[in-house]
Amino acid sequence: MAIASTFLLFHTFVIITTFISSSLAYTTFHPKALVLPVTRDSLTSQYVTLLHQRTPLVPIKLTIDLSGQFLWVDCENGYVSSTYHPAHCHTPQCYITGSKSCRDCSLSRPGCNNHTCNLFPNNILTHINEVGEVALDVVAINSTNGSNPGKMVTVPNFLFTCGSTNLLKGLAKGVKGMAGLGRNQISVPSLFASAFSFHQKFAICLSSSTTSTGVLFFGDGPYVFLPSIDVSKSLMYTPLVKNPDNSAGPIFHGRPAAEYFIGVKGIRINGENVILNTSLLTIGNEGEGGTKISTLNPYTVMESSIYHAFVDAFAKELAHVPRVKPVAPFGLCFESKNLGSTRVGPGVPPIEFVLQGKDVVWMIFGANSLVQVSNDVSCLAFVDGGVQATTSIVIGGYQLEDNLLEFDLANSRLGFTSSLLFIRTTCANFNFTSSSLSKETF
Ligand SMILES: *[C@@H]1O[C@H](CO)[C@@H](O)[C@H](O)[C@H]1NC(C)=O
Ligand SMILES: *[C@@H]1O[C@H](CO)[C@@H](O)[C@H](O)[C@H]1NC(C)=O
Ligand SMILES: *[C@@H]1O[C@H](CO)[C@@H](O)[C@H](O)[C@H]1NC(C)=O
Ligand SMILES: *[C@@H]1O[C@H](CO)[C@@H](O)[C@H](O)[C@H]1NC(C)=O
Ligand SMILES: *[C@@H]1O[C@H](CO)[C@@H](O)[C@H](O)[C@H]1NC(C)=O
Repeated sequence: MAIASTFLLFHTFVIITTFISSSLAYTTFHPKALVLPVTRDSLTSQYVTLLHQRTPLVPIKLTIDLSGQFLWVDCENGYVSSTYHPAHCHTPQCYITGSKSCRDCSLSRPGCNNHTCNLFPNNILTHINEVGEVALDVVAINSTNGSNPGKMVTVPNFLFTCGSTNLLKGLAKGVKGMAGLGRNQISVPSLFASAFSFHQKFAICLSSSTTSTGVLFFGDGPYVFLPSIDVSKSLMYTPLVKNPDNSAGPIFHGRPAAEYFIGVKGIRINGENVILNTSLLTIGNEGEGGTKISTLNPYTVMESSIYHAFVDAFAKELAHVPRVKPVAPFGLCFESKNLGSTRVGPGVPPIEFVLQGKDVVWMIFGANSLVQVSNDVSCLAFVDGGVQATTSIVIGGYQLEDNLLEFDLANSRLGFTSSLLFIRTTCANFNFTSSSLSKETF
């Protein structure tokens, strides 16, 4: 028995290692990091990236999901590629996904082949969730030295899951799937890290404008933004916290969580503690409570009691500025002309998310705390998640813009910069002009 299972373990290890290193076999150039553009869709506020896939290569628009477990794309409509391979049951590709489902589908087209393993691609926005074939195809991406895109590199057998066209409902126009950047073995960052033997690390910098481009890095820094500012020097760190369960909703209960939680211990406004029920800030046995980061929420969402305490405290610190009628979904609004202006946005009391110790804080200034909703009115850009909120605080996109976040999985920590406006740059300042016109050929 013992010998048999040791052998099985060894065997599994060998095939997984072989599978991962087979991605390397074709590459002669070893990039240190990779880069992708990120834009915000103005209608849905989704953050969208562009990844080249298939043979011949086509650019595929994908909604970014920081909590997503893997890459999925619509294979039902318009998937044409001479290098598409379904993952057949009991192969290394299936083992690595942890899939327990083996299915026959007899149309013999991308997304529907006999004897293939399956995962459950889901659209967290519409809660549509269905079975999808695991598959492999070529992905191409630009390398970077941290300052510019460099040579293009390819991964011949990049693992993903097929979804249906129905799964695209609610996603931004032109989007063909979702890029899961979650904390697990088959997320997009993990696959790039194993294909190129990188550190398990990626960084995201979301632009605050829908007309300019932010950036996603895989691998090590530096992260250089015009005019020659290496923002990796401005990072502070806080541990990433493991959630024992998946907080994405009841249908995900008991499924492995790929989300990024951090240990917010308290909130301060203008240096004053907001009085709140701190037990809501810890993660319970069923995955409830705590603070996570999500690119699918346009604004930070707080459990009701936290939200009300937070809004009241903010209003108190800004009592000298007259309020105007709130504009949904926000609860506290001001006439913009009564708010001063600073390098980091409207001159309003700073918000601090207090992390470990008393000195490690995530500072949020006017550019990330107030949103202009009309010509005259600006609102506190936080929303009420209700009393039933599973996760107590979900830090959303608006609060992340023009901040660089580095998810360092090897060291289980999050690096964050606070507003880049302080150091006179923005997430839109990565120089996307390629420094190398030559392309790597294989
Ligand atoms: C797939 O499986 C079905 C039923 O097992 C079989 O009838 C069909 O011929 C198979 N198709 C292919 C392409 O192997
Ligand atoms: C590489 O970068 C250049 C310049 O930004 C861009 O035009 C090209 O599409 C990128 N290639 C890939 C594979 O992403
Ligand atoms: C604080 O929150 C916990 C978890 O939801 C709850 O059980 C407890 O009753 C709350 N305490 C107060 C004083 O509201
Ligand atoms: C990256 O390459 C460009 C062009 O070769 C160069 O100007 C730049 O200094 C390099 N950046 C780093 C951080 O090495
Ligand atoms: C962006 O990078 C390119 C290629 O290295 C360089 O020629 C160009 O001057 C850079 N742009 C700016 C604004 O520095």
